[in-house]
Parts: sequence; structure tokens; C-alpha cells
Amino acid sequence: MAFEMVAVVGLGTMGAGIAEVFARAGLRVIGVEADADALATGRGHVERSTQRAVDRGRLTDGERASILGRITLTTSREDLREADLVVEAIPEVLDYKLSLFADLDRICKPETVLATNTSSLPVTAIAAATGRQGRVLGMHFFNPAPVMGLVEVVSTVLTDPALVPEISELATRLGKTPVAVGDRAGFVVNRLLLPYLNQAAVLMEQGLAGRDDIDAAMRLGVGLPMGPFELLDLIGLDTAYEVMGVLFDETRDRRHAPAPLLRELVSARLLGRKSGRGFYGDEPRPHEPVKSSVITFEVAGEEAGELTERLRTAGFKPSTDPDVILRQADRPVIEHAVRLQDPARMVGVRIVGDRVAELAATVLTSGEAARAARDLMKVIGLTPVACRDRAGFVTDALLYPYLNDAVRMYDAGYASIGDIDAAMRLGCGYPAGPFETLETIGLAVVRDGLRALYAEYREPAYAPAPLLDQLVTAGVRAFPRP
Ligand code: 3HC
Repeated sequence: MAFEMVAVVGLGTMGAGIAEVFARAGLRVIGVEADADALATGRGHVERSTQRAVDRGRLTDGERASILGRITLTTSREDLREADLVVEAIPEVLDYKLSLFADLDRICKPETVLATNTSSLPVTAIAAATGRQGRVLGMHFFNPAPVMGLVEVVSTVLTDPALVPEISELATRLGKTPVAVGDRAGFVVNRLLLPYLNQAAVLMEQGLAGRDDIDAAMRLGVGLPMGPFELLDLIGLDTAYEVMGVLFDETRDRRHAPAPLLRELVSARLLGRKSGRGFYGDEPRPHEPVKSSVITFEVAGEEAGELTERLRTAGFKPSTDPDVILRQADRPVIEHAVRLQDPARMVGVRIVGDRVAELAATVLTSGEAARAARDLMKVIGLTPVACRDRAGFVTDALLYPYLNDAVRMYDAGYASIGDIDAAMRLGCGYPAGPFETLETIGLAVVRDGLRALYAEYREPAYAPAPLLDQLVTAGVRAFPRP
């Protein structure tokens, strides 16, 4: 089927972005909103986004005018009769979607394909509101839609199998990579991404580390494009909360219960970028002066030599009566600290990548020692991430369960290794997919890290996936790929 005229219903952040994507690919687009104000807001999104592209030299004024010229706006669903494809991007409320799809089914010509951009609601239930279940599927885009390279093409058991390659081909025409999946809560990306974001909120609430520290650890240490709280603000806290609720309803996994902090912020209408404030507002970042090299130190544990050398080069003095004892730790730092005469001086340190130093203060660490450790790391060019003395510190506690979830998803037969890797790279801008990351870190290292997390938190989902465990036991270093 030739898709020439498409309609997008709902012109919020996602809908407006999707309309832009279609118009950029040369298709005619009808944008539908409930009233004139919402239409004006939607048009504003597309105008700003395309203006930004002009300002960056990615589009000419003429191309921008053609893109805008291909988009017609209306408040009447009745105008959609001749559309070849309708993509729904209205709020994540099943009742609204059911009533919209029943309407679209009545209004549109029989061959029109009806697609939902739902983040997590069952496509099967939405399709059941129509008399054309074979021509209903999910087309799930990622925020910001004009930038992210993935479209999840979600089919139900009733979707006409011939439609999946047609819609995948359309996604390719839009410059996106399609990944075809079945109808399971969260599909590939949200099922792996949102539990990690939710866990970041839970761990912050438990006092593991602060917002800026967690964001810095994941952005600078792990190399993700955004920290979890920056990304939650982009996605919208209400959307994240809804997705977690749907995941929890399907899995009954405690980790999928929306973080109480999310609920609290959503109730306060602090929704992230769309409302101007979420985890981040417009508060100025505190400026902390770095203390000078009068601090003395001792380094204990593995790789002590390199750290000692970097500190010495920066002008600090190793001392037998140091201000701070830095311990490269792979198990709870407190176990090392209690062996000292003065445990208050010990801080656990772990360097992540080449830019971040996680600093774990124990229950006995003094404020002065913690501050001295932070200043030392800054002076040697590392971003300090202060956290409590818990297995996995910040980065492993957030990264490893996500990797484990990916192994379980593959092992359950939901998606292939290649599709999962591509989905996370293109949908979230990750530098590597979870299987690539697992192989880079080392399967055994991740397995052992998960065991340590499990021993600490006793969270069933942290127990290494049986497949991971077995590959390590077999001495295999890479996942089997066709
Ligand atoms: N609209 C249009 N274009 C945008 C944009 C927007 N909102 N935001 C950024 N861009 C463009 C810029 O114009 C720029 O384009 P150029 O390279 O052609 O000049 C490019 O994107 C990079 O932007 P910036 O240099 O301003 O900023 P960054 O390099 O920091 O990139 C980012 C911004 C693309 C958002 C990047 O941080 C990223 O990839 N973040 C991860 C986003 C993510 O994970 N999205 C998925 C969320 S999950 C989801 O949506 C599913 C849902 O169901 C919940």
C-alpha cells in the first residue's frame, strides 16, 4: 500500500514530532487536535523544531516552508476519511484511545491503517475497539521523534501479517530503523529503560546518592546521553508514571511499582520539561570551590599505584597520618574501615570509565574525609559521585539489573539480540546495546556484580539470569548470534 496521506491525532510533544517526521519525508500530513488552542500549541512545536534545524544549517528556509506547507491542521476528525494511515498520539488513557479508535473506524475508508503510538497500553485492546483489527498496529516513536532513529512496529495476534513489512518499509522511508515486536507491556525499549529510570528514583529516595551525582555517574561514567533524572524530565514524569503502572500491572514485579517520588512529583504537576519543572527546575547549580593541595592522603587496595601517582602529580602528599584514606573497594567499604584505628578517614573509591570517581562514604566516614576525597578527585580531573556504601555503588546498581533484564527478554524469546541492541542504541541514543555492553564489561564481571547486588538487596530480579550464569559457567565470552 502507498502511504501518501497520513494523519496524526494529538499534537503534544510526541504527536507534533511525528507529524514533522512524516512531513520531512515528503508525505502530506493532517494534524488533529481537540481545539484551536491545542492546534496552535502543536503548530508551535513543529515551527520551533524546524526553525532550530534551519538555525543549525540542517534545513534551508525553503525546505522548512515546504515541510510546514505539507501539514494541514484541523479540529475535525471527520477530515480523516481519505487518510492512508492514522497515527494516534493522545494521552495514555485507555478509554480515550478506545473511543478515538471506534470513531476512526467509523470515519476512515476501510483500507486505512490505524496505528497507536502508545508507550505501554495494550495494542490488542485498542484494536478491539474497531471492526478492522487486522489493520491496527502500534507505531512507537521515541522522544524527540525527529531525532531518535527507532520505530517499534507492534503487531497483535490479529494484525494482518502483511502489514508489518509495509509499515516497517514506511518507517525506513522516514529515515528510521523499524524493530518488529509483539504486544507486550513496554515493548522492548520501555520495558528495559523505564525500570532503570524508576530504580534511579527509588535509590535516590533511599539516599544512595543525590540527583546530580546519579545523573553524572550515568552520563559521564557509563556514557549515556542523559542521566536518568534528565531523561525522566524529557519523557515527562506523568508518562513515566503511567508506563510503570502498566508494567507493574502486567508483571507484578515489585521493581516495576512506580517510585513513590514519581507519584509525588506528578501530583504536584511537576512533570518535567513540559511543565517547566520536574526533577530539575530553574535553580542555579551550587558552585563549590575546590580546596588546595594541603590535603594529605593514603591509597589502599587494587590499582593503588595509578591513583597515588595521579594525586602526587597534582601536588598532594601521601602521608602516614592522612586526612583521607582512599580504598579501592569491591566489597562493602565498612569491612575495610573497621580494621583501621580511625575508620572515620576511610572513603571507598571506584573509577568508572575515565571521567567519574564513585566515592562511597561509610556510616563511620567523617564529613571532612568525604569532602577531602571529593576535592582530590576534582583536582585530578574526575567528577566525584558521592554515594552510600552499598553493593554496586551507583553505576552497577543501575546498569547491571538493566543488562540482566535484557538477557531475560532475549531468553524469553520476545526479541533477538540484534533487535534489542539496535532498539536501545537508536531509541535511547545509548552508545551500545545491552549485549554489546555486557560483552565489553565481561559476562563474568556482570554476573558477579549481580550476585553481589542480590546478596545486598535480596531482590529476586537481581539474581543473574540463568542464561548469563550458564554462559559464564561454560566459559563463553559472547552471546550466540545467528
Ligand atoms: N526536536 C527536534 N530536534 C531536536 C530536539 C527536539 N526536541 N532536541 C534535540 N534535537 C536535535 C538538535 O537540533 C540536534 O540536531 P543536529 O545534530 O542536526 O544539529 C541534535 O538533536 C542533537 O541535539 P543537541 O546538540 O541540542 O543536544 P544533545 O546532543 O544533548 O542531544 C538528545 C539531545 C538527542 C535528546 C540526546 O540527549 C539523547 O539522545 N537523549 C536520549 C533521549 C532518549 O532516551 N529518548 C527516548 C526516551 S523514551 C521514549 O521516548 C519512549 C516513550 O514511550 C516514553
